[in-house]
Amino acid sequence: MNANTFRPVLAGRRALVAGIANEHSIAWGCARAFRELGADVAVTYLNDKAKPWVEPLAKQLDSPLFLPLDVAKPGELEAVFDRIRAQWGSLDIVVHSIAWAPKGDLEGGLIDCSADGFAKAMDISCHSFVRMAKLAAPLMPEGGTLFAMSYHGAQKVVPNYNVMGPVKAALEASCRYLAYELGPRKIRVHAISPGPLKTRAASGLKDFDLLLNEAVQRAPVGELVDIMDVGFACAYLATPFARRITGETMYVDGGVNIMG
Ligand SMILES: NC(=O)c1ccc[n+]([C@@H]2O[C@H](COP(=O)([O-])OP(=O)(O)OC[C@H]3O[C@@H](n4cnc5c(N)ncnc54)[C@H](O)[C@@H]3O)[C@@H](O)[C@H]2O)c1
Repeated sequence: MNANTFRPVLAGRRALVAGIANEHSIAWGCARAFRELGADVAVTYLNDKAKPWVEPLAKQLDSPLFLPLDVAKPGELEAVFDRIRAQWGSLDIVVHSIAWAPKGDLEGGLIDCSADGFAKAMDISCHSFVRMAKLAAPLMPEGGTLFAMSYHGAQKVVPNYNVMGPVKAALEASCRYLAYELGPRKIRVHAISPGPLKTRAASGLKDFDLLLNEAVQRAPVGELVDIMDVGFACAYLATPFARRITGETMYVDGGVNIMG
């Protein structure tokens, strides 16, 4: 047997990737990695404004499903899963790569965050993942893998991360509880914690460039991560090679988090 006889590890798998805004998005790295390893990938886009940016990317992947998804719009998440059920009948992988907080609430310190801003950030960036898990589970009779994107600001204080710190902490805890509840159904749940990446969401954080500089200086591997690093880490966790790993927060940050 030589390398040419290996089947791509995700051949025959079906993945839903939510959160591609453009070619810099972490979700795009996940979608590309899954596709390169043989999976079929359904892609969502936020709204009509986002569609022209995401559509060419979905085409590159030959995505059989390209669907609108604003998790704040009642019924839209359910509609995505209805379409997947009708077209595919089952699903193996889900990526939630979605975060949002009102600008005013994100820019100020946590202490100034309004109740409404806190609730919206929590709903869109955390509870939507719980809702996704509930809709995905019935489509995974043979098991599956769910991913949510977190950040180190969940565990330690990162200046300027503000309300997103507690929101990501809730997201990581949700991954653990979902891993516990869905484990008997062979559905594994992972929080992925990438190092800083220059994306549209990151541009909303004050002094983000300082964070990038600091990360590259402190990373034991001496360089920043890219979106394909995140994508291939998720791809690995979605394979049977990782079948007994669940509920962890997996850092993909070149080791920055181990530094004191
Ligand atoms: N960029 C980083 O440094 C970094 C590091 C760690 C974790 N993350 C996390 O990775 C995830 C993806 O962010 P990114 O950095 O790729 O930025 P991005 O801007 O490319 O992606 C964020 C996505 O969230 C989507 N989104 C926002 N509100 C939504 C809603 N109501 N419904 C559906 N989708 C919605 C946007 O459309 C966009 O596609 C986020 O959870 C973010 O917190 C980012």
